Order: sequence, then C-alpha cells, then structure tokens
Amino acid sequence: MCRFGQTSVLCLILLLLSGCDSQLDQFDSNQVFSLTLAKSEDVDMAAAQADVSEVLKNLFGTPEVPAWPNGLLPDSGLVDISHLRRAAGSVSSEQDGTHLGLFREHCVVCHGVVGNGSGPASQFQNPYPRDFRSGVFKWKLSGRSLKPSKDDLRSLLIRGVPGTGMPSFSLLGPEEIDALVDYVIYLSIRGEVERRLLVEAVTRIGYGIDELPLEERLIDPKNEAAQELIVTTLQRVVQQWSEADLLGPARSEIENFVDTHESVARGRALFHGKVANCVGCHGADGAGGVETLDYDDWTKEYTTKLGISPRDSEALRPFRAAGAHAPRQIHPRKLLGATLRGGDEPQRLFQLITQGIAGTPMPGVALVAEDNGKGLTESQVWDLVSYVRSLKQN
Ligand code: HEC
Ligand code: HEC
Repeated sequence: MCRFGQTSVLCLILLLLSGCDSQLDQFDSNQVFSLTLAKSEDVDMAAAQADVSEVLKNLFGTPEVPAWPNGLLPDSGLVDISHLRRAAGSVSSEQDGTHLGLFREHCVVCHGVVGNGSGPASQFQNPYPRDFRSGVFKWKLSGRSLKPSKDDLRSLLIRGVPGTGMPSFSLLGPEEIDALVDYVIYLSIRGEVERRLLVEAVTRIGYGIDELPLEERLIDPKNEAAQELIVTTLQRVVQQWSEADLLGPARSEIENFVDTHESVARGRALFHGKVANCVGCHGADGAGGVETLDYDDWTKEYTTKLGISPRDSEALRPFRAAGAHAPRQIHPRKLLGATLRGGDEPQRLFQLITQGIAGTPMPGVALVAEDNGKGLTESQVWDLVSYVRSLKQN
C-alpha cells in the first residue's frame, strides 16, 4: 500500500492499526473543540455535536463516499468531486493503474481520516502534523490571514516541509497532487464549517442547556432559519478559499532583489535593529538560543485561551482524553545553517518577513513607503531577505 521508502515505517504502523480501527468509514466529530466550547460557554455539547455531525454528513458525505454541496454554492469551480473520489476511500488501483484512496495511502498516518493532525504517527512528531479543520495554514504566498491558494498547496505537497515530518510527494503525478489538494481543501472546509456550526449551535440556537424541540434544531428541514444559517456558514468558508485562489500572491517587485554583499550587510543591521528586531527571537546572527515560552495557536486554543497552563497536566487531562496532543513549545528557529521549511526563494522570504507565519508567534513587519521607524520599506525587506539567505544552509 505504500510506495515510498521514507514513509514505509509509518505505513506499517497504519497497517497494524487500521486492522482494528473501525472509524475509517466515518468522520469523527471535533471532540477537542467541543470541549473548549463546553468549558468556555458552560454548556453540554452532546446534542450540538450529534446534530452538527448529521448536517455535515448531508453536506460532505463520508470518508468512503465524499459529497460536495455544489447546489448550495454560487462558485462551484473550487473543488472537483472526481478529485475527491480519487483521494477518498480505501486504497486500491483501477485496471489502468489509477490509484484511488490517495489520502489514506499517503496522509492519514499523520493527518488522520478527518484531517485533525492526530493520525497514529502524529504523536512522535514536532511540530505536530497540521489539523486542517481550523483552516489555518503556515506556508503560503497568499497572505497571513488568507487561505493558501491551490498553487500554494500544490507546491507544498511537491516540496514537503523540510525539517519536519511532512514529506515531499514529488513522485506523485500532477493529477494525484491535484486530487490531494482538493481533498485537503474539502477536509478543511468541512472542519471549519463544523467549528462554526458548533459555535452557532450553542451561542445562537440555544443548544447545551435543555433539550431543544425538533423545530428549533439544526436537523429539522422545516426549520428555515437553521437551513439559512447552514448555507451562509458554508458559503462564507468556501468564499475565503475561492478568494485566496483568485487573488494569488501579492506582487512585490522581485526585480528589486539584488543579493550583494552590501545588501547582506544592510540586512544584518536591520535584523539586529529596533524596528524588525528579529534578534529578539532568533538570537544574534540568527544563532538561536533565545529562551521564549510560547505555543502555537492550535495548542493555545485548548490551553492559554481557556486560562489553562499548557504545563498543567491535571487540567489538560480531559482534553488529552478527547484527543488533544500534549502541548509542545514552539521555538523561534535557529536560522544559521537552517533548512527553511517554507522554501528559500526570495519571493517566499519577502512574504514571510512581511506577513509572519500564521498560527505561530512569528510576527510580520509592516511595509512602509518611507523609512519612518515604524516599519520597513520594500528595499529594506529585500535586504533582510538577502541576509536570511546568507545564513541558511546552502
Ligand atoms: C509523516 C507525517 C506526515 C505525512 C505522511 C503527511 N504529512 Fe502533512 N504535515 C506533517 C507535519 C508534521 C506538518 C506540519 C509542518 C509545519 O508545521 O511546518 C504537515 C503539514 C501539512 C500541511 C499544512 C502546511 C501549512 O502550510 O500549514 C498540509 C496541507 C499537509 N501537511 C498535507 C499533507 C498531505 C496532503 C499529505 C499526504 C499526501 C501529507 N500531508 C502527509 C506531517 C505529515
Ligand atoms: C516573536 C518572535 C519572533 C520574531 C520577532 C521573529 N520571528 Fe521568525 N520565527 C519565529 C518562530 C516561532 C518561528 C518558527 C515557525 C515555525 O517553524 O512554525 C520563526 C521562523 C522564522 C523563519 C524560518 C522560516 C522557514 O521557512 O523555516 C525565518 C526565516 C524567520 N523566522 C525570520 C525572521 C525574521 C527575518 C525576523 C525579523 C523581521 C523574525 N523572524 C522575527 C519567531 C519570531
């Protein structure tokens, strides 16, 4: 079932586990997020979870038989159902050699069937595999608060994220990559719709206190307000993905990038200067070693945002039981001799410096028209790009 040497050990784990895993034919409900809502809103989540799962099944189908709610969406070009069918389900080959079940073959061992980042091999990794359901992605040209474009996801799959568990899938064909890209978008949209509906269910509809009469519940087809809520929630999430795909990356003038000694020297001064203050996290000359105590946003959601210390294992017990990963600190990286995870092309580093990294403490620097002590000009950012590139492993 596995074609790559590098992932074969993980695939073996999957094989061993899949024999006793009955959940491959259904999507798990988002237990950890439900628990955060139960705590923050002081409600019981059982009914909301059950009804939202039912709604999601109608919209998106199951891991074996995926569906895509085209009829409810003005823009239908984002996800191709034939791609979903190719990526979903169990691993098999058709007579012409077409592989089916690509997500299970290549990704589930780390990202899990539902895309929660909690596959059987996830606990050994640092950083953990991405939970697609919050809709936040790190490595993209589109912009920090935007979804990645399809091009971003394609190049991510081809490149992998060097220095993390995320492998390169450059040996897959372009059609397989496209199928997987659509499937990631599908899981992410499904997961984000789930989160938003759970929030609506408890904050607006009144789930979680007393049992609701059928006509007030999300699953009553005659409940028009609920049907409208479901459709607008879905459309909002899909629209964000469509926008990122249409916008493409912000164009900074790559012609202004000159990798000279002078530029590296200016970049070095900026790196250690007050405005960019990269040194505050990445250490003098990018050598690391700065002690920071911080976590990524996926971890903060079920810890600090609820007032729970990530080190308080007692308070975390129910979250861990619901499937949350053990919190791991996120460290600013040692840039000296580093392999860059997001790619080292100048354009990517320009985006990284001006946008920061979504989901992490790495901030973006404001881009200003003139040097005013509050941000960096475009040419100063290019100088920093030169400097960062001079540090990395060549
Ligand atoms: C061996 C484990 C492993 C496997 C197998 C794996 N991934 Fe990942 N993946 C990771 C890890 C770890 C990260 C987090 C990297 C980071 O935070 O920088 C990640 C991150 C991602 C991201 C998010 C990138 C971002 O910009 O935030 C996507 C999308 C992704 N993987 C898709 C896939 C797909 C699709 C497959 C199968 C074709 C796959 N992964 C297989 C471990 C894995
Ligand atoms: C508040 C702390 C903080 C500051 C300030 C900061 N960074 Fe970061 N940086 C991080 C963290 C945390 C990561 C690791 C993110 C990850 O890998 O998920 C990171 C990662 C990076 C990376 C690695 C990206 C990759 O593709 O592997 C580069 C390059 C980088 N930062 C450059 C800079 C530059 C240049 C500055 C100054 C303009 C800066 N950082 C300021 C925290 C910071």
